Amino acid sequence: MNKSSVAIITGAASGIGRDTAIAFSGKGVRVTVSDVQEEKLQETAQLIEEKGGEVLTVRADVSNEEDVKSLVTETADRFGRIDYLCNNAGVSGELNSTADYTVEEWDKVINVNLRGQWLCMKYAIPVMLSNGGGAIVNVTSILGSVGFENAPAYVAAKHGLEGLTKTASIEYSAKGIRVNSVAPGFIETPMLDKAGITTDPETKQSIVSLHPIGRLGKPNEIADAIVWLCSEEASFITGHSMLADGGYTSR
Ligand code: NAI
Repeated sequence: MNKSSVAIITGAASGIGRDTAIAFSGKGVRVTVSDVQEEKLQETAQLIEEKGGEVLTVRADVSNEEDVKSLVTETADRFGRIDYLCNNAGVSGELNSTADYTVEEWDKVINVNLRGQWLCMKYAIPVMLSNGGGAIVNVTSILGSVGFENAPAYVAAKHGLEGLTKTASIEYSAKGIRVNSVAPGFIETPMLDKAGITTDPETKQSIVSLHPIGRLGKPNEIADAIVWLCSEEASFITGHSMLADGGYTSR
């Protein structure tokens, strides 16, 4: 990881994605930050530039194939290579039981959280191969290995993404691309605010109590795990799902 390397981070306007972009840039990596929220994306870029980092912003909906093609092409045109991909963009979706879940919401959650991550891999991998390899980290969730009531689409997408991570690692590790996932517990980001988890003290406490560590996670703690998995220090690690969950799944 050095000044010649390049990372794409999706969902970088907010939460975990923003901190991941800042953490990569802190290691000297040139970053492409991407999201559908353009104003907040510019804020991320500004935070990086203020610290002397090099950054490209690309508005892209990860569930849209043409947007993803442009994201990869614009990055390759600007920087000449892609070393790291952090597939982080995601939505939590409505809370509803399996039978009551709407088809529209199901399609949206699966399209952003699973199809979108696959599309980014589909188009970034050939560029990575052409520059000799790289590393991919997919941001999954504790809900990629356990269920959660009233989140059927989210849980299905995250389980699917764990499977995709393993499959791509088998296909590409010998060709120089390591593929791993980071599976966070509940992290204090706007996603939890929108779900009403961090805004209501009682709900927050009930979620905190599910984490043996006694608190929710912070986005920079996930960012550090992502950057480490991309680093040379993780050179023999591939196909791995790294829990960063304060012990949630140990129970
Ligand atoms: P966040 O809501 O703060 O950030 C998600 C970002 O993704 C937003 O900036 C949003 O605009 C962007 N996004 C949404 N749809 C998109 C699309 N179609 N194309 C491109 N960008 C899109 O949420 P947070 O918490 O930072 O989430 C990041 C990732 O971490 C997600 O994949 C989420 O599922 C995962 N995660 C979050 C947890 C939490 O407790 N906050 C727990 C486990 C996983």
